[in-house]
Amino acid sequence: MTEPVVLLLSGPNLGLLGEREPSIYGTATLADHVARAEGAARRLGYVLEHMQSEHEGDLVTAVHGARGRVAAIVVNAGALSHYGWSLHDALAAFDGKVVELHLSHPSSREPWRRTSVIAPVADGVIAGFGGLGYELAVEAAARLVEEGKA
Ligand code: DQA
Repeated sequence: MTEPVVLLLSGPNLGLLGEREPSIYGTATLADHVARAEGAARRLGYVLEHMQSEHEGDLVTAVHGARGRVAAIVVNAGALSHYGWSLHDALAAFDGKVVELHLSHPSSREPWRRTSVIAPVADGVIAGFGGLGYELAVEAAARLVEEGKA
């Protein structure tokens, strides 16, 4: 039997992690975070797929491709978290579990970051734990999937 899949989606500017505002986002690169997420998925018997894009439409297409195939999506949509309504709509049409992820704690930052358009279509949110959040989010996603089977 093939392992179930967790899809990690990374939105705009996350490819710059490591160089981008390290006082907020830390010095680890996106590759470092993906490796942590992969490790967590493997330990739980899941396979991790990852895609990053600067473009909302690419993320929407990835969510469409996940329908009926992927058990859960972990999404750090970057700034699209705050205004990406087409990503919201794509996730609303996704049939698996959804975990919203942020390295920082957007609710404690500028007012415009306090709104998330992903939150209404997510099962839960992991925010403010830096790189550890990538492990926690994958674990939460996998455990939600397992609980759904019980
Ligand atoms: C972020 C928070 C967003 O507000 C911001 O636009 C990002 C990164 C985070 O991981 O903390 O690009 O999603």
